Amino acid sequence: MSAETFFQGERLLQAGELAAAEAAFRDLVDAMPGHVAAWRCYAETLQRQGRIDETIAATRRANSVEADHISEIGAFLLFHGDHARAETCFERALSLDPDCLSAHWLLGELHSRHDARDRALTHYRRCLEIAPDRTGPAYMIAALGAEDSPERAPDDYVTAFFDWYADHFDAHLTQRLNYTGPDQVADALRACRPNEVEHALDLGCGTGLAGVAARDLARHWTGVDLSPAMLARANSTGVYDRLIEGDLLTVLRELPDGSIDAALAADVFVYIGALDQLFAEVSRVLVPAGVFVATFETAPPEVTWELCESGRYRHGEAYLRRVAADAGLGQLSVSARTLREEYGEPVASLLATFTRTS
Ligand SMILES: C[S@@+](CC[C@H](N)C(=O)[O-])C[C@H]1O[C@@H](n2cnc3c(N)ncnc32)[C@H](O)[C@@H]1O
Repeated sequence: MSAETFFQGERLLQAGELAAAEAAFRDLVDAMPGHVAAWRCYAETLQRQGRIDETIAATRRANSVEADHISEIGAFLLFHGDHARAETCFERALSLDPDCLSAHWLLGELHSRHDARDRALTHYRRCLEIAPDRTGPAYMIAALGAEDSPERAPDDYVTAFFDWYADHFDAHLTQRLNYTGPDQVADALRACRPNEVEHALDLGCGTGLAGVAARDLARHWTGVDLSPAMLARANSTGVYDRLIEGDLLTVLRELPDGSIDAALAADVFVYIGALDQLFAEVSRVLVPAGVFVATFETAPPEVTWELCESGRYRHGEAYLRRVAADAGLGQLSVSARTLREEYGEPVASLLATFTRTS
């Protein structure tokens, strides 16, 4: 239908039937706003009718749509490690549309990966100007140290990122980043609760990798996550009796006291800096002597928590011990681990097991 309308519009344009061609292309761009060629032809029909302002507006629209497509190709190249070609795509996108949000956002990411902090900041600041309602740019500006760090990543930033990432997550994490967090939390839980418990909670369950690794250790599994796309994947594992979409702290606050035997949190506290309220809630929902196993990225000992340039938080061991103790969680073990890699280098991490003492 769209191809038919397009060719009909082209025939009308060639025949000089400009009003009819305009109507055909207008219908097409209304139905398919991402159709670059239709926008270009629509602009041509307007130009040939001498309608300058409308021609400029339609050409801008064509450029903006084309810039988004090119930026998408750049995103694919960046994801697969071809940074030079990715950068060329983003620059090309910006030459077509200087306000292309995705190109600025991804150039911010690319430059920050190459320690070009000032260039990264320029692009993130431009994102803020173009889309002041988005929380991601301000978050990344803070991550680059140019503003105070928030206590946690904004919900919509996390959701948008993991909704986009969901389809690639399992393969990328396990095959490219050698991610072993799910097995490590499952082994830690197995070490202190070898027999099946009644009810376990998977905090920031993502696609369900940790639930799958630990499925035999609890009769009932509940998963909590912000990202609907990640939850859809978790649902397809068949591990979880219940999946709750929402922020961890908000969801925990709604759970009854002493209703959970074990809680796991694999690679989720990299999106939360201040952990005091969260640990207090985990402790409250655990049964006495219930177990809490979690992973963290390791900060230097003097640091409580900090937001890093990667956009992820890391925590100091002394801080974790203190926050746990304040929450009534006794520590069974805290050990240095490697859970995954970043740019080919192991990321220093901690695997911690706590138990509710009070
Ligand atoms: C790196 S993934 C880890 C997923 C899973 N635990 C695993 O090990 O494969 C982090 C997950 O935490 C979720 N997340 C981050 N912050 C959250 C929050 N405040 N509340 C709920 N989920 C959150 C993200 O949506 C994402 O699915």
